[in-house]
Amino acid sequence: MSRTETLARPAVRALAASKIREVANAGMGRAGLLAFWFGEPDSVTPDLICNAGVASLQAGETFYTQNLGLPSLREAIAQYVSRLHRPCLTENIAVTNSAMSGLALVQQCLLSPGDRVVAVTPLWPNLVEGPKILGAQVCTVALNFGSTGWNLDLERLLDALTHDTRLLMINSPNNPTGWSMPREQQQVVLAHCRNRGIWILADDAYERLYFEGQPGVAVAPGFQDLAESDDRLLSVNTFSKSWQMTGWRLGWVQAPQALMPDLAKLIEFNTSCAPAFVQRAGVLAVTQGEPAVASFVSRLKQSRDFLIAGLNALPRVTAVAPPGAMYAFFRVQGVTDSLDFCKRLASEFDLGLAPGVAFGPEGEGFIRWCFAASEDRLADGIARLERALERL
Ligand SMILES: Cc1ncc(COP(=O)(O)O)c(C=O)c1O
Repeated sequence: MSRTETLARPAVRALAASKIREVANAGMGRAGLLAFWFGEPDSVTPDLICNAGVASLQAGETFYTQNLGLPSLREAIAQYVSRLHRPCLTENIAVTNSAMSGLALVQQCLLSPGDRVVAVTPLWPNLVEGPKILGAQVCTVALNFGSTGWNLDLERLLDALTHDTRLLMINSPNNPTGWSMPREQQQVVLAHCRNRGIWILADDAYERLYFEGQPGVAVAPGFQDLAESDDRLLSVNTFSKSWQMTGWRLGWVQAPQALMPDLAKLIEFNTSCAPAFVQRAGVLAVTQGEPAVASFVSRLKQSRDFLIAGLNALPRVTAVAPPGAMYAFFRVQGVTDSLDFCKRLASEFDLGLAPGVAFGPEGEGFIRWCFAASEDRLADGIARLERALERL
């Protein structure tokens, strides 16, 4: 045995590396490759938001901030959440360096080795692997795919939420399927978790990228609409998707006030704080960014419809329009090894897509395509997939 082989903890060595990255690492940066494998828009952050970040730097805001974030940003987020959901106090908001960081902090805050965590899958792999770093055990409840898209068998989820479950993780609208948990299911799950003392971690990254809502401000049904202030609910959110700010690394956690001192300690010992200029851009986004969100969502809806129609016109492909998020998660008849299929799409056809199996075994046979892209690029991608399907 080499001396370095034993360095990392067994729990870390056992983590599954991201299969999206496995495909992407081989082709990233290659000239001519058309990539839709990551979850990010091909458009840059709106000017107004960028300008706020630049102005902050020019004003000399290059110092540490409070662990829980600038008071002005915490207050602005609380008002934003209150507009969309139920009233929320500044004291319920912790600013984090991305939703990814927020998820890790919440998991560190709640999970001990051996704890049982339940997750609804297919799911973005980062959510499922995080608890394992802490020695917790993740049990999955798989959505079913039918002619109307992805659905949850509620009884199966309730059965999985046993008395000894510590945490339920729900991402709705969901990456990769777009599945959005209906309000009635949220009510039942919240009541069940309340009875059993189970924490709910709602990953609300895509709550604004929702195509089914009433006219006006688009937002998916969320647990925050239903929860009382003492419910064991944590909502993790991000600036990455709604305001096209993936590279800024800014998010927040909405949590019961009693948890805040412990979250503040964890922030100190993980990242200490988010950069001041990034937080200033965040203030602009939540206070004046509504027109930008609205135009992004309407563009996304068009590109969703364009891509789904294009995919369904191909032989062997079944695609259902997702109600939320920014991915088509479609099935290709005859594909039983989506990882190998996506590697070949990248290497032989210059098309970068994510393999369904990256999101759990129930995603095998499916492919994920991020449609936050221009119609020209999507059309080019569909043509490449068509050529590939003639050969693979
Ligand atoms: C479900 C989900 N949660 C969280 C994130 C991470 O967001 P952030 O960029 O803030 O880390 C992503 C990113 O793809 C996601 O799909």
